[in-house]
Amino acid sequence: MAFVTHRLSRGFSSSAVRHVVIKNITIIGGGQMGAGIAQVAAATGHTVTLVDQHENILKKSVAGIEGGLKRVVKKMFADKPEAGTAFIQNVMKNVSISTDAASAVQSTDLVLEAIVENLKVKQSLFGGLDKVAPSHAIFASNTSSLPIADIASATGRLDRFGGLHFFNPVPVMKLVEVIATSSTSQETFDSLLNFSKALGKTPVSCKDTPGFIVNRLLVPYMMEAIRLTERGHGSREDIDTAMKLGAGYPMGPFELLDYVGLDTAKFIMDGWSAVDPGNPLFAPSEMLNKLVAEGKYGKKTGEGFYKYK
Ligand code: 3HC
Repeated sequence: MAFVTHRLSRGFSSSAVRHVVIKNITIIGGGQMGAGIAQVAAATGHTVTLVDQHENILKKSVAGIEGGLKRVVKKMFADKPEAGTAFIQNVMKNVSISTDAASAVQSTDLVLEAIVENLKVKQSLFGGLDKVAPSHAIFASNTSSLPIADIASATGRLDRFGGLHFFNPVPVMKLVEVIATSSTSQETFDSLLNFSKALGKTPVSCKDTPGFIVNRLLVPYMMEAIRLTERGHGSREDIDTAMKLGAGYPMGPFELLDYVGLDTAKFIMDGWSAVDPGNPLFAPSEMLNKLVAEGKYGKKTGEGFYKYK
C-alpha cells in the first residue's frame, strides 16, 4: 500500500489529503466484465486476483484474458512476435485466480465487484469481505443499475466505498464512470479516479443516480428503438443501418442490445420502472419481455434480436 498527498479537488474545502495508490486489486466475478477489467489492470502493471465461485469459469476467464492480450499484441508487436509472447507472459504473471474471496482480499488495495446484478447477493458479498479486508482497502461495484449507497450499506466502510462502472468490451472502451455516494470520502474518490487513469482510461465523475450518465442516456435510446419497431415504424435492420450511417454509431441499437444482453437491458428497465413507474422512458416493452422469457438474451445465448452462430 502507498499513499500520496495532494489538494482536495471536488468542491470540498481546501486542505491536504492522502489517497491510496491502488496496486493490488481483487476482482470478484470472472464473467466478461470481470475478466476484461482484469486484463486491463494486469496489462497496466497491477497485481490482480480474479475470484469466482467456480474453477471452470475462472479457466474461461484466463483464456479470455489471453485471447484479448493476443489481439493487443498483434498490433503492438506486429513485427516482433517473440516480444509479443514475452509481453503476454509478463502480463499473465500479474494475474492469479481464486475461488476463496476471503483469502484473496487479505492484502488488497481495492475490491472491485462485477457479479450478478442482485442487491442482496452484492450486499452479502461486501458485508462478508468487510470483516476480512484490510482497513485501507477500497470497495467498489461495477453495477450498471443498482444504487451504490444501497450496496455499501452492508459494510462499515461507507467512506471507502464507490462505484467504478466499465463498458463492454472493457479493453476497448475508454471510459470509466467513477461514482461517489454522499458518504464516499474525497480520498476514496481520488484513489478511484487515479486508478482509472492508471488503467489508461478516461474517468468521468458521476452521482449515485439511476444509470449514472451513459446508461441513463443509452438504455432509453435503445428502448425507444424497440418501441419504434413495435409501432411498425421501422425494421430492426433499417434502424440499425440508420443509426450507424446517419449518426456514426459503431453498432445500431438492436446490435448493441444483443451485445449488452437483453436480460441486462430488461433488468435495468424493470429496476428504474419500479422506482419511477409513471416515467414513459421506463415503460416496459412486450417485445423485449417476450425475448427474455424465451431465453433469447442476445449474442451470449446465440439469439436475441438477431441470430448468431
Ligand atoms: N481485447 C483487446 N482488444 C480488443 C478486444 C479485447 N477483448 N475486443 C476487441 N478488441 C479490439 C480489436 O483488436 C480491434 O482493434 P483494431 O481496430 O486496432 O484492430 C478493435 O477492438 C475493434 O474490434 P473488432 O475489429 O473485432 O470489431 P469492430 O470493429 O466491429 O468493433 C466494437 C467492435 C469495439 C465492440 C464496436 O462495435 C463498438 O464500439 N461497439 C459499441 C460498444 C458499446 O457501445 N459498448 C458499451 C455498451 S454499454 C455497457 O457496456 C454498459 C453496461 O452497464 C450495460
